[in-house]
Amino acid sequence: MTRQLVFATNNRHKLEEVVSKIGEQIKILSLDDIGCYDDIEEIGKTFRENASIKSHYIHNKYNLNCFSDDSGLSVDALNGEPGVFSARYSGEYGNHQANINKVLAKLKGTANRKARFVTDISLIWNSKEYFFEGIIEGTIRKERSGTEGFGYDPIFQPDGYDITFGEMSLEEKNRISHRANAIEQLIAFLEEVS
Ligand code: IMP
Repeated sequence: MTRQLVFATNNRHKLEEVVSKIGEQIKILSLDDIGCYDDIEEIGKTFRENASIKSHYIHNKYNLNCFSDDSGLSVDALNGEPGVFSARYSGEYGNHQANINKVLAKLKGTANRKARFVTDISLIWNSKEYFFEGIIEGTIRKERSGTEGFGYDPIFQPDGYDITFGEMSLEEKNRISHRANAIEQLIAFLEEVS
C-alpha cells in the first residue's frame, strides 16, 4: 500500500517541488487535500519552533504522518533579523518590497553584510518528531538586482556566486537553496524508513 504523508502547506510551488523529488513511494497530501482550512498560528521564536507547531497541530487533529517547514532570512549585523518575521518584517504580511527596503535601510553604512537563508522542517513520522535544517550562506547587496524568485531574492547573493538569487534561474536556485537542502535531507530519511 502506498504510504501517505501530509505536507502542512497550501503553497503549490513548495508542494510541486516536494512531489517531483519524492517520486512514487509516498503520496504527499496538502492541507487542502485533507480538508484543513484552519489558520495555524506561527507564534514560535525560531523557524524550528514554528515548523514544529504546524506539524504537531496536524498530527494532533488528524493523527496522520506529516511535516511542515518554516524559512526565512537571518542577517548577522541585525542580530538574526528578520528571522521568524521575514514575511512581515515591514509590518505588512507578504510586502516583499517594503521588507527589502527595511533591511537595506537598517544595513546602511554597515560593512558586515553576512546573511543566510534557513529552512527548518519538522516531520512527525509514526508519532516521533524529526528535524531537518537547510542553510545557504551569502551576503546582502546594497541594491536590488534581478527580478526572478520572490521575497528577499533580489538582495541576497549566495557565497561562491557573483549574482543574486533574483538573477538566478529557478532551476539553479532550487538546486542550491536552503529549502532544497532541507527537503533533500527529509527525502533521504523517508527513503530509508519507507
Ligand atoms: P516561508 O516560511 O517559506 O513561507 O518563508 C517566510 C518568508 O521568508 C518569505 O515570505 C520570505 O520573505 C522569506 N523567504 C523564505 N525563503 C526565501 C527565498 O528562497 N527567497 C527569498 N525570501 C525567502
